[in-house]
Amino acid sequence: MCGIVGYAGSDRAAPILLEGLKKLEYRGYDSSGLAVVSGPEIKMVKTKGRLANLCRLTDDGKNLDGSVGIGHTRWATHGEPSDLNSHPHISPDGRFAVVHNGIIENYLELKEFLTARGFRFLSETDTEAVALLTEYYFSGDMIDTLQKVANKLRGSYALGVLFSQTPDAFYAVRKDSPLVVGLGKGANYIASDMPALLSRTRSFILLEDDEIALVGRNVVRVYDRNKEIVPKEPFEATWDESAAEKDGYPHFMLKEIHEQPKALQNTIKPHIKNGKIDLGAIKPTADYFKNIAGIDIVACGSAYHAGVVGKYFIEELARVPVGVDLASEFRYRRPITGESRLTVIISQSGETADTLAALREAKRAKSKTLAIVNVIGSSIAREADEVFYTLAGPEIAVATTKGYTTQLAALCLIGLYIADARGAVNTETYAGLAGDLLTLPDKVNCVLKENVGGLQYLSSVHHGATHAFFIGRGRDYAAAMEGSLKLKEISYIHAEAYAAGELKHGTISLIENGSLVVAVCTEPALAEKTLSNIREVKSRGAHVLALTANIGQKFAADADSLVVLPDVNPLLSPVLSAVALQLLGYYISAARGCDIDKPRNLAKSVTVE
Ligand code: F6R
Repeated sequence: MCGIVGYAGSDRAAPILLEGLKKLEYRGYDSSGLAVVSGPEIKMVKTKGRLANLCRLTDDGKNLDGSVGIGHTRWATHGEPSDLNSHPHISPDGRFAVVHNGIIENYLELKEFLTARGFRFLSETDTEAVALLTEYYFSGDMIDTLQKVANKLRGSYALGVLFSQTPDAFYAVRKDSPLVVGLGKGANYIASDMPALLSRTRSFILLEDDEIALVGRNVVRVYDRNKEIVPKEPFEATWDESAAEKDGYPHFMLKEIHEQPKALQNTIKPHIKNGKIDLGAIKPTADYFKNIAGIDIVACGSAYHAGVVGKYFIEELARVPVGVDLASEFRYRRPITGESRLTVIISQSGETADTLAALREAKRAKSKTLAIVNVIGSSIAREADEVFYTLAGPEIAVATTKGYTTQLAALCLIGLYIADARGAVNTETYAGLAGDLLTLPDKVNCVLKENVGGLQYLSSVHHGATHAFFIGRGRDYAAAMEGSLKLKEISYIHAEAYAAGELKHGTISLIENGSLVVAVCTEPALAEKTLSNIREVKSRGAHVLALTANIGQKFAADADSLVVLPDVNPLLSPVLSAVALQLLGYYISAARGCDIDKPRNLAKSVTVE
């Protein structure tokens, strides 16, 4: 959801801002803009469309003077993508320019307030209210002014603010939207995400909610809501700079699919020591897990699908009831939880607005909270009682891949630990699974080596499909849900996932000659059942692509196409199915000529409700 970047240094700001925006384009790409303090005034260029338009208009930043500036890449919330609605927004007196990520919820109220005081809005955005309020409240002291502005705002915001009379510095304000401050030598920065700045610095500080930062060439000062200076301890980013580059792959998505063996290895290996699961810094003792009455897993999108896999895994092994909720539902349904239940919050970005709100709801209800998060220091990671970090590295493609499979690995590690703590798993199963988890990176490697060709071929055959049905039972159903999302979000083919046993209860009426049905059937105990469902759709004209494992031969006669995955413990098969289904979605989208890393209407990290 929108990317913001800011620079204060001695070099020309515009090219540096564009460089940062290029790395943030995955957060929004319907328009972009930048503003710099140039002499006594603020100069601004903004335009509808991809960042390339802004680069063209500014001659790659060369035609904008000034060494302090802010930039923005937009994912529209208020007002269509247009030149006028693009950020920055500038105050009527021209002294203040603002870029914003988030939503100002009381924007209509503010518009009324400002209009009554003679201000006129030029755009349809909520952000313009912030620029106008800054002019209205300006007291001569920017920290005081921004404090007054922040007191008027409801909603979520990360703001970058330029003031024409501080040509060496700009300001940043944050509440419930991600923002990091990067510390350089003779230059300092802000960005929505660390990868935007990794080529410039590895040293960062995080802003807490309601803090305001002055970011100058040689100084960064952070103020709390009482305008007191807050001491901040910088931390070093461990992420590799190449994470923000495609490294020769045509798309970030394909690169990240191929990074999964390493991401899984990094996530799993440190947590298995001498055959025993070690959850590291996670404090609850085995006794705590032994006595919990139930677990609620809460997340959005693919992270929710990971939760569904987690439910099957944890319930089967630990014999403790697990509920899985969409965060946008959980937060408003007055969930029945409390001290006896554990809430597991899953989020790659750690910033998803609904998931963060669900975490706060669980904490309010006194449930213990454990977050599975990829981005270190993100809001969810900071607010949850306990954090399990997936070490996938930065994920840039909008469609999650390595973020999702490492969430599965985390859930398996946590599930196995809980099963052991509750005495629900015997030594042999426990040791077997711990060993199998360690072999997962190699198995994923095999999928990438052995199945790519076949999946590429099948994608070339099926890229013209208009509908696709993904079916499976048990864990395979959970995997089907994620496969269907992967396909539809990047290829725009309408796809739905169904529990195979549910087909007869309505959906089968949709099957007609040539319908594409992707059947996930890696579960030996349920293979015969799924096979019957395959026959049912086949006899109604469907083309069935079966994804299976060592039980493949059962399907050979009935499926039209067969993808056989490497052998793996069936409890872990959703990881391998996910990789194959990611490749299917990717290659179908590529064959359709889709903009895979930037699918229409989507953006990474959904920081608005
Ligand atoms: C789909 C996808 C989204 C995210 C969802 C949650 O490919 O990426 O469905 O999984 O928006 O995001 P996080 O995990 O960042 O909370």
